[in-house]
Amino acid sequence: MKQFEIAEGIYSVGAVDWNIRDFHGYSTQNGSTYNAYLIVDEQIALVDTVKKEFSEQLLDNVSEIVDPKKIDCVISNHTEMDHSGGLPRVMHKIGEDKPIYCSQMGQKNLAQHFGQKWNYRAVENGGELSLGKRTLKFLETRMLHWPDSMFTYLPEDKILFSSDAFGQHYAGPKKFDDQIGDAIMPHAKKYFANILLLYSAKVLKLIETVQKLGLEISMICPDHGVIWRKDPGRILEAYSRWGKQEPKRKAVVIYDTMWHSTEIMAEKIVRGIADEGVDARPLNLRKWHRSDVMTEVMDSKAVIVGSPTLNNNLFPTVSDFLTYMKGLKPKNKIGAAFGSYGWSGESVNLIRDELEKMKFKIVDPGIRIQYVPDPEGIDACIEFGRKIGKAIA
Ligand code: FEO
Repeated sequence: MKQFEIAEGIYSVGAVDWNIRDFHGYSTQNGSTYNAYLIVDEQIALVDTVKKEFSEQLLDNVSEIVDPKKIDCVISNHTEMDHSGGLPRVMHKIGEDKPIYCSQMGQKNLAQHFGQKWNYRAVENGGELSLGKRTLKFLETRMLHWPDSMFTYLPEDKILFSSDAFGQHYAGPKKFDDQIGDAIMPHAKKYFANILLLYSAKVLKLIETVQKLGLEISMICPDHGVIWRKDPGRILEAYSRWGKQEPKRKAVVIYDTMWHSTEIMAEKIVRGIADEGVDARPLNLRKWHRSDVMTEVMDSKAVIVGSPTLNNNLFPTVSDFLTYMKGLKPKNKIGAAFGSYGWSGESVNLIRDELEKMKFKIVDPGIRIQYVPDPEGIDACIEFGRKIGKAIA
């Protein structure tokens, strides 16, 4: 197999971003990739581009296969800049008059992003484009995860170009699921928890639609991370499971602390929850990135949040996390708040209000301790934990 070739006449020509560590607020400790695919048929199609700064790398990769000027059309499955940022450079190179196939919202978004009057061809859901021996079939996936998002399916090869869906922020020498094995699943899970969780219902609907259409899939090519060629069913099954948001017997105790009092409370609450045979984990927001905490939240039943009171308010990291979690709309959770304070002590009520807004079932009004937990306070935290543990059981 030639470099970049993933199936006969189909090439992965995107870019590896080894050094990215923050993807709009999501920690990418393993970097990421911006995948783009070249389909060489009687007509040559480029599916998606890359982040602007990787445009030359994309064109260099294409040049190893064909002269970029021979590309006949571009398919834009998604207009977010990590996949469309390379379009101006690509269009300049291949010819500004070449058609760009995208959804109707895609056309609108691309025009707003780049202010260019390119040769847009808005496609209908289910619309097709013949490349000669091969056909591209377009499937709208609105709000998975942008209004413009769509998939492109290649029935002759049973390949699904799935845009962001089924992706992972992972840069490495392995390009396929069979090369990396189980080690890819935590990356896929984190990706779902932080990008797709709020669209869980749409994920389930989409999988139902794919099944109804009877699409045979031998390979899923996402726009980030490895390609699913050995077992695409594995990631489809994982999406079905994650989309249902059925929690495990698990609790996360998420907190920050000023002088360790809230931390002591967190540890004792964890101990109380664990006493009930529940998997319980303390997560310090200055040690854990919000996107990793969110991954732990996804399959937890109990989400317990603690903060000291700082200037009549929450600790900033706790506010940050609550805002982030609220946007991702986790479902089927129970919750409670805790925290230490010096004199005013608003933090517990503020957290509880936020958890209620997220429709968490509040299992206790919350526990707050002035200054430093004494033995009685420690016992109260353990008991508070046990109450939470019992509520999960
Ligand atoms: Fe990978 Fe929604 O962009």
